[in-house]
Amino acid sequence: MTGLREAEKIYSFPVYPKRDLVLVKGENAAVFDENGREYIDCVAGNGSLNVGHSNPAVVKAVKDQAEKIISCANIFYNDARAAFLEKLISVMPAGLRKAFLCNSGAEAVEAAVKFSRLATKRKKFVSTVNGFHGRTLGALSATHNSKYREDFLPLLDGFSFVPYNDFEKMERAVDLETAGVIVETVQGEGGVYPGRPDYFARLRRLCTERGALLIIDEVQTGFCRTGKFFGFEHFGVAPDILCLAKSIAGGLPMGAVAASDQIEVGIGKHGSTFGGNPLCCAAGTAAIEFMLENKLWLEAERKGSYLMERLRLIKSSKIREVRGLGLMIGIELKEKAKPYVLDLLERGLLVLPSGLNIIRLLPPLTIPRDDIDRVIERIAASLGDKEKSFPLD
Ligand SMILES: Cc1ncc(COP(=O)(O)O)c(C=O)c1O
Repeated sequence: MTGLREAEKIYSFPVYPKRDLVLVKGENAAVFDENGREYIDCVAGNGSLNVGHSNPAVVKAVKDQAEKIISCANIFYNDARAAFLEKLISVMPAGLRKAFLCNSGAEAVEAAVKFSRLATKRKKFVSTVNGFHGRTLGALSATHNSKYREDFLPLLDGFSFVPYNDFEKMERAVDLETAGVIVETVQGEGGVYPGRPDYFARLRRLCTERGALLIIDEVQTGFCRTGKFFGFEHFGVAPDILCLAKSIAGGLPMGAVAASDQIEVGIGKHGSTFGGNPLCCAAGTAAIEFMLENKLWLEAERKGSYLMERLRLIKSSKIREVRGLGLMIGIELKEKAKPYVLDLLERGLLVLPSGLNIIRLLPPLTIPRDDIDRVIERIAASLGDKEKSFPLD
């Protein structure tokens, strides 16, 4: 066989900025390379491992299900799918009674766009500056960053963008032709900017008044990440449509869009071959049960507060701000983030960049306390004063 790195280099499109690391094993918040070196994983499958790598309950559910039935067309009923849907709806706010199961975050957003147009018979959407909602053409239409969009124009008509947390601009943008407003509860890719409670409260009222649907994208913030089961619980509001993916199924590929049963989506209006396949559903049921049994939102809240508090104590002329919600944390630097992302890798810590100058931490919510202390030590060693610097140009 071609070498591990070479095979991906030769046979896959080079769309990802690869790091020189081959990961072959994961265990809770630790990952191991092919030589057995251990790293603390604050990338965690881009935030899809809230219950940890190879969570034993998820592994067991997948093994058991794989021996029964792996795929089952949606034209038939299936027991694993039924159990998952019931579990998923049980953690939803009272108004969201139905879900469509798909395979990714972008697909959840696609479905939300289609369902909103069906329900309102309107065409327009308002999204936010620096909002990120995925890479397929519909989801990309709601994504702001021109770097992702410009080569693929024209995208869907009718999308506009207003600054996040700015209610006055939102109020001017939403009119009687707006089908939906799509918004994250914490902007993730856009730099880890938490939403403001007053903004969400006013946005909720505005959507109701103008007949636009409030679509909340919790692909990254959902499933306990921010210290509540869903991010909108911090603001005392509920969406009309909720987009989910990432940690929904313990790391297996799955997405979902949940909505009120007032939203009618008839036969043939949407569909997916793999959406709701029994293997992912079994993993999803195990993952949600694990979150509920272990009150994972409390873990995120406690560990997140501790981590942020400690990070703020690091004496560093390079750090501008530490912010976040729960275990979704951004460290904004006065310098480029990329060299520090690579330096931290050398020190045995995997982190994500967000924009040019922000380091993002999305560890499993099950991360042990000792590992959190190691995360802090490694970041302090890399970013603390006395080290070399990488100016922003
Ligand atoms: C808020 C948000 N929405 C949608 C997506 C797209 O999800 P996926 O990569 O599963 O298509 C992401 C991915 O990072 C995201 O953070």
